[in-house]
Amino acid sequence: MRKPIMAGNWKMYKTPAETTAFFEKFRPLVEKSEHCEIVICPPFTSLAAAVDAAKNTRTRIGAQNIGWAKEGAFTGEISGPMIVAVGATYAIVGHSERRQYFNETDETVLKRTQAALEFGLTPIVCVGERLEERECGNTDAVLVGQCHKGIFGLTGQQFAKIAIAYEPVWAIGTGKTATPEIAADAHRTIRGQVREKFGKEAAEAIQVREKFGKEAAEAIRILYGGSVKPDNARTLMAQPEIDGVLVGGASLDPVGFASIVNF
Ligand code: 13P
Repeated sequence: MRKPIMAGNWKMYKTPAETTAFFEKFRPLVEKSEHCEIVICPPFTSLAAAVDAAKNTRTRIGAQNIGWAKEGAFTGEISGPMIVAVGATYAIVGHSERRQYFNETDETVLKRTQAALEFGLTPIVCVGERLEERECGNTDAVLVGQCHKGIFGLTGQQFAKIAIAYEPVWAIGTGKTATPEIAADAHRTIRGQVREKFGKEAAEAIQVREKFGKEAAEAIRILYGGSVKPDNARTLMAQPEIDGVLVGGASLDPVGFASIVNF
C-alpha cells in the first residue's frame, strides 16, 4: 500500500501571521493522523512562519515553485537551496496556473523537477488537461505528452522520488470535481505510462526496484487535485488509484483541511 500524501496548496493566500493562526487551529486536529503524510505549501513569504509553526509535528512544508538554477541573475525566482535553508522539504512543480499564466512548459517543469531533486526536495509535479482538451477526447494524449516531454526525462532513480498530481484544469477552483471514476481513469493512464517507461527490464527500472523493492509504476504516488472538499475527499480516497490529494481553496481553512486529511 502506498502511504497517501494529503497536501494543501495555499496559492497566493495567507501572510505569516495568518499562517501562524492557521497552524494553531490545525495542529491539534491532525496530531493523530499517522495514516498519511501531510504537506502544506504556503506562499514563499510565509514558508518560515509555516516551518516554525509545524515544528515537532508530522506536517511538512513545501514551496509552490522552485527555480531551476542554484543561484544567479533570475529576478523573481527562488532557488532550491533557499527553500531548503528555510526548512521546507517539498516543492510543487508545474501547477496549471503556472503553465497558464507564467509560460511554464514541460521543458521548464523538467528542469525545476531536476533542481528540486538535486537539492533534496520532494517535487509534486502537476499534470492535467484543459476543458477543451477533455471535450475533444484528448485527455489521454495530453497526459501522455506531459509525461513524456516533462517528467519522463528523469532517470529511474530520480523518478522514484517524485509524486505526481493529476489536476484537471477544468476542476480547479470551479467546484466541479472530477468524479472518482474520471480521476481514477486518468491515474491509470499515467501509471500505465510509468509502467511502459520505467517498468521494463531496463537499467532504469532496475535502479528503481533496487531502491524501493518495487517497480516505479507501483511505487509512484499520484495525487488528485481539483475542487477537493471535506465532503468528497472520502469517495476520492476510496479509489485505490488515488494516493492522496492536492487541495487548493479548501486547504485554507484549518478545520476543513483537517477533515480532508482525516477522510
Ligand atoms: P481547488 O482545490 O481550489 O480547486 O484547487 C486545486 C489546486 O489547484 C491545487 O493545486
